Amino acid sequence: MSPTNRAAWLPAPNEKLEIRPSEFVKPGPGEILIKNKAVSINPVDFYFQDGYSPTGKPRILGQDVAGEVVEVGEGATDFAQGRRVLAHVVGLGTGRPQDSGFQEYSIAPALSTCPIPDDMSFEQATVLPLAISTAAHGLFSSEYLGLPLPRHTVQDTGKTLLVWGAASSVGCVAVQLAVAAGVNVVATASQKNFDFCRQLGASEVFDYNSPSVVGDLTAALQKRDVIGAYDAISKRDTQLNTAQVLAQLGGGKLAVTLPPVDEIPATVTATGVYAVNIILNGKDKAIGHAIWHDFLPGALKSGQIKPMPKPLVFGHGLETLQGALDKLRAGVSALKVVVTL
Ligand SMILES: NC(=O)c1ccc[n+]([C@@H]2O[C@H](COP(=O)([O-])OP(=O)(O)OC[C@H]3O[C@@H](n4cnc5c(N)ncnc54)[C@H](OP(=O)(O)O)[C@@H]3O)[C@@H](O)[C@H]2O)c1
Repeated sequence: MSPTNRAAWLPAPNEKLEIRPSEFVKPGPGEILIKNKAVSINPVDFYFQDGYSPTGKPRILGQDVAGEVVEVGEGATDFAQGRRVLAHVVGLGTGRPQDSGFQEYSIAPALSTCPIPDDMSFEQATVLPLAISTAAHGLFSSEYLGLPLPRHTVQDTGKTLLVWGAASSVGCVAVQLAVAAGVNVVATASQKNFDFCRQLGASEVFDYNSPSVVGDLTAALQKRDVIGAYDAISKRDTQLNTAQVLAQLGGGKLAVTLPPVDEIPATVTATGVYAVNIILNGKDKAIGHAIWHDFLPGALKSGQIKPMPKPLVFGHGLETLQGALDKLRAGVSALKVVVTL
């Protein structure tokens, strides 16, 4: 008899999560069935709760899981039963309930699943998956910043990247992946997170709250060979500020994590990333494979990629997910809200 499964369902936009049964689904080709031990919360989860609903149907939220492999589908033979893994689950892209994270068992693509090193907890591991795919899409796709792929032995490119919002989940990974690609990173964060961003690998950090931040960044970057900018936050003001820096340097490429705003200067090409693309979209899947399969397992094991920001464990059990969503909605600084299961 198959085990039962339970999920935190969003019945409809603007309603609270409800704990109800969900289907226990076996993995198909290239898929892995994971028993979740920790899941993390992302802004997109509360965007759905706050009204965004392409289908209007009840749905399960959750993009990041860490847990144990229960069963593998055809071709997913790299992952033995019982193996500890982290995964970016792609229900946002497929629309299937089994592909989301806020449940006891999830289906993950083998392509976006990676072993967890022995010295890393499930709570630490679950901070990474969506941020990895989001950062990688913008950094490495040729339509975005087109950085060389990251390497375990870093080769300096002589280039510099601006990362706006380096203390965010996406920013933390963007800094680390860019450094592994041999790119010097200049970042923005709140002053209290300067040391944190330097530990991630940023060479210089500027306070985004300073009224002179655009001018200060422009002055610092004028001496550098700038490859572009990654705005991990992508609110209107951060897009315009980041674009303004690039424009004052003569223009360039800007990767944004939300749709580009209208008023970007003409010399700046702003493109919106979509994390799921490097897992599901034919032409971007090569990046997914290069990052998730070739680079990440070794980089996690060696500590080249650290599970940052640190987990803030909000509670245990599906019942605590609504409170965890509310916690993230209220805002965090250099922390990832996590629930253990
Ligand atoms: N397109 C996609 O596929 C995709 C995927 C994932 C996320 N996203 C989007 O990416 C954005 C970031 O997500 P996240 O999970 O990384 O967020 P997060 O971890 O919740 O971000 C929190 C951090 O944002 C920083 N921050 C807030 N306002 C800032 C500003 N004006 N300038 C610089 N930093 C600022 C804060 O830094 P300090 O503490 O230093 O103040 C804080 O630490 C969200 O809008 C999310 O929806 C998109």
